[in-house]
Amino acid sequence: MYSEKVMDHFMNPRNVGEIEDADGIGEVGNPKCGDIMKIYLKIRENRIEDVKFQTFGCGAAVASSSIATELIKGKTLDEAWETTNKAVAEALGGLPPIKMHCSVLAEEGIHKAINDYRVKQGLEPIPDPHAH
Ligand code: FES
Ligand code: FES
Repeated sequence: MYSEKVMDHFMNPRNVGEIEDADGIGEVGNPKCGDIMKIYLKIRENRIEDVKFQTFGCGAAVASSSIATELIKGKTLDEAWETTNKAVAEALGGLPPIKMHCSVLAEEGIHKAINDYRVKQGLEPIPDPHAH
């Protein structure tokens, strides 16, 4: 049911933890299941210098969060914003259809954290393009 990559990122999640002096923090909950994710960004010159996450959720959510941190590390904020849940699922070698919603948690967390950073900088938050 799950790809090897999903299993790997679930068993050995990358970038787990907290950044004490984070520049942007995103906390999101999945309304379908109640699982939650918190993501911390350290930003320098518009680039994600460091990222850590804590996810209290299912295996697919943990794996999605883990690979999402790898996808956005070193990217500009614009590039990171474009990291869709589809890209996250693809990078994992796919997710079962009933688990696709779990990858949304990662995308949403990144969006929240970027907007948290923007607001702290005195910038407008980017409008949420999603329906939830
Ligand atoms: Fe809740 Fe996967 S079942 S995020
Ligand atoms: Fe972008 Fe909802 S996934 S804020």
